[in-house]
Amino acid sequence: MAEQTPWWRKTTIYQIYPRSYKDSNGDGIGDLEGIISKLDYIKDLGFETIWLSPFFSSPQQDWGYDISDYLGIAPEYGHLGDVERLIEEVHLREMRILFDLVLNHTSDKHTWFQASRSSKQDPKRDWYIWKDGRGSRPPNNWRSIVGGSAWHFDAPSKQWYYASFLPFQPDLNFRNPEVTQAMLAVARYWLDLGVDGYRLDIFHSLFKDKDFRDNPWSTKLFSREYPAGFFQDYLYNLNQPETIQFAYQLRQLANSYPSPKLLLGEIFADNNTIKEYLGHDLEGLNLVFLWNLLDVHPDAGYLGNILLQNEANFAQPYTPVLVYGNHDNQRLISRIGEDMRLALLLAVFQFTARGVPVTYYGEEIGMSELYLPKKEWKDPVGIRYSWLPEFVLKAMKIYVNRDGCRSPMQWGPGENAGFTSPDIKPWLPVNKDYPQVNVSSQEAQSDSLWNAYRQLLHIRSEHKALNSGSIEIIDRDRNNTNLLAYFRLSDSQKILILINFGEKQISFLNDTGCRQEIFSAGDTRLDQAGIIKLGPYSAAIFSN
Ligand code: GLC
Repeated sequence: MAEQTPWWRKTTIYQIYPRSYKDSNGDGIGDLEGIISKLDYIKDLGFETIWLSPFFSSPQQDWGYDISDYLGIAPEYGHLGDVERLIEEVHLREMRILFDLVLNHTSDKHTWFQASRSSKQDPKRDWYIWKDGRGSRPPNNWRSIVGGSAWHFDAPSKQWYYASFLPFQPDLNFRNPEVTQAMLAVARYWLDLGVDGYRLDIFHSLFKDKDFRDNPWSTKLFSREYPAGFFQDYLYNLNQPETIQFAYQLRQLANSYPSPKLLLGEIFADNNTIKEYLGHDLEGLNLVFLWNLLDVHPDAGYLGNILLQNEANFAQPYTPVLVYGNHDNQRLISRIGEDMRLALLLAVFQFTARGVPVTYYGEEIGMSELYLPKKEWKDPVGIRYSWLPEFVLKAMKIYVNRDGCRSPMQWGPGENAGFTSPDIKPWLPVNKDYPQVNVSSQEAQSDSLWNAYRQLLHIRSEHKALNSGSIEIIDRDRNNTNLLAYFRLSDSQKILILINFGEKQISFLNDTGCRQEIFSAGDTRLDQAGIIKLGPYSAAIFSN
């Protein structure tokens, strides 16, 4: 009998940034109750899995990625009862839910760190990474992911503690078995409560070289694939072999539950290393984000290449993860010239290419980047670099202030876009374009981006070839450089996907046996002679 495809290989994921999704109690901050009230929306749109950014107890210096109690809920989001109800309501709708697990670091306000820094003799001292300096200099040359030394001096004990990210996010010491046990217990706690898995925050940073060797020099100011930054190769502080071993350990924990759980890693590494995290026998993390679509060029050549690369590096049974944006990156639509037509074509690609698509809330309506004057910046990374003039940041194409992609969800054309009550000031301003760009307007408009998302998600769930079949790229139409054409195949299903990224009409001789149109956007036609005419910026999907 053919093995059943596990749910996590064919699912579609919708990321919610809780603070910005829906405020139910009029404090200007999104909350769990707000999310519960929108589950029918997500279900109807067609997503199968929801991932929530952290909502745990936190001083909110990095908006929840600085946790002070892993089992507590930040009061502005609700309480444990809401979490339980959220899980239950998600499952009632036959959807799944992932939480965000921040294993690498805690907040410096966590009682563990407070104890750890209280004295060298404290039993929690070794729960974090403390070292003597080299004279007045830090213990070695390691840089943090956001630049600057990753070491921070603690005057009372005259030692340095290590932080991969910001200074108020001290790294836990994963070489201490008490720490790994404590963090596995955290993972177990929410899995026991019914959560379907985790998105794993900066998972590649868990272990550090035990000899604390200096990192080599690099020519790169920034590179995702081979993690390097600020002219340093992060050779000894990221992607250590022990972290890969820990991925396998975590998977064993996940596998101990009767229903399969999903571990989705946020990892920055080259493809070979990513494959190790996944495991040569798939014994590691179930999925790892691929970042090749963050730098997307909306053209057939670029995307065709992505398909080829993904098949070369992550052929079946591996499953690529297809993602255009998240809470750390400029909004997709603002990276493609605010062009809704291109956003629609990219959605066709994302939901029909082989892989698990992850959509960041608001992408389904083409929400654009919020412009916020510097004095209103709330993101600690933005604030850290706010001394750099804006034109320099623009010219260097570096994205430092992440507030712009975190503005409140635009539900409707009314005041505050329906995110919170009309008379309340939301935690971040609603983007000015909300009277035009919002869910309810797009629901009512049959050719909107939102309606395309909805159709594509439903078609994908209904067709095995699309959600778990193989892929075959059609390259016979090389002269049409604007055409991207491929098949998705499974058993007896054959699906043809055609996307025209150009301004000119394209004719495609359809001798493929796929004659039934199941999706079309823009001007598309199949004529008597079997020619498919694809108008400018249009796409069509045919099935056999
Ligand atoms: C990850 C998160 C980011 C957070 C950082 C530190 O990269 O996506 O938002 O600030 O880790 O936890």
